Amino acid sequence: MTVFKTNSKTDSQTTNNLQRLTIKHLHEVASILAVAGSDVVKGLSQIDKTLPPRYFYSDRGSELFEQICELPEYYVTRTETSILQECATEIVKITGECELVELGSGSSTKTRILLDAYQQQNLPLRYLPVDVSGGMLENTAKQLLIDYPSLGIYALAGTYEFALQQLPAKQLATRAIAFIGSSLGNLNPQECQIFFSQITEALQPGEYFLLGVDLQKSKHILEAAYNDSQGVTAEFNLNMLEHLNRLYDGNFDTTQFEHWAFYNETENQIEMHLRSLKQQTVELHALNLQVDFAAGETIMTEISRKFNIEVLQEELKSHNLVTKKVWTDVNNWFGLFLCQLQ
Ligand code: AVJ
Repeated sequence: MTVFKTNSKTDSQTTNNLQRLTIKHLHEVASILAVAGSDVVKGLSQIDKTLPPRYFYSDRGSELFEQICELPEYYVTRTETSILQECATEIVKITGECELVELGSGSSTKTRILLDAYQQQNLPLRYLPVDVSGGMLENTAKQLLIDYPSLGIYALAGTYEFALQQLPAKQLATRAIAFIGSSLGNLNPQECQIFFSQITEALQPGEYFLLGVDLQKSKHILEAAYNDSQGVTAEFNLNMLEHLNRLYDGNFDTTQFEHWAFYNETENQIEMHLRSLKQQTVELHALNLQVDFAAGETIMTEISRKFNIEVLQEELKSHNLVTKKVWTDVNNWFGLFLCQLQ
């Protein structure tokens, strides 16, 4: 979608006096947010109602997601962290001197493992985090500057699509784009193809793509991870309605919806829904939208696809992304792919 023209003259950019931190606020973000409601209107006007998962991430939602990452049932973050700890040195040895672009950097917690590994090999450090949350980006960047005295940061506040088109010139020998945390799982197969094309367009031949994905596993492990006993995932899911109420002057009553998550074995994906507990009508005044719900009707808020290593490797290959190595954990629950653009 290229509806929003990029206008770098009006993008704001701040560089501190030491030149170690630049934060670029992509101008398009505001335009996207201004019309963002159109995907809400579209999703809630369909027969099978849907809402885009990015509406989870209000400030409260981001906080709840950090809590999810710590849950005993949510093995995802813990498993990927353990893999990174095992293979970071090997990654560094493969790429050599390399600057790191990270899509959806959030708190950059797992990325520190990679930064540490580059630092241990006495390689120069440059980090280009991309995140829609400008506040999170700035706070994280400032802390990283303190913790890594030789690190240079060029942060981009905006969406992946626009950031990938606006990456600054490479300053180190090579570059890697990291997309970890299994966020790829939120994209359906068609969106996934588009995303891989955007990655290959942003990379030059010989550069790297580091991809972390959740793998297929037994239904009961998956369903437990998205139906935790403390109800944090339920709160995270319902918070989307609160977020929409605030954004678009809505009147969703969160006590009249319930969290529902299950593993769809045909599609190999967790599906998260919000189920209406009664027949009701909800209004989002700012969008001029009125939505009728039958009792038991659901809104799908997220898919979280679970991948197969060989299948994904083939898909990457069809985009000229050649897998150099895949690391997994002892249970084969999570996969970390290091690919190189041919
Ligand atoms: C951030 C998309 C990887 O799919 O596991 C966690 C989001 N949703 N619990 C995932 C999520 C419910 C998460 N991703």
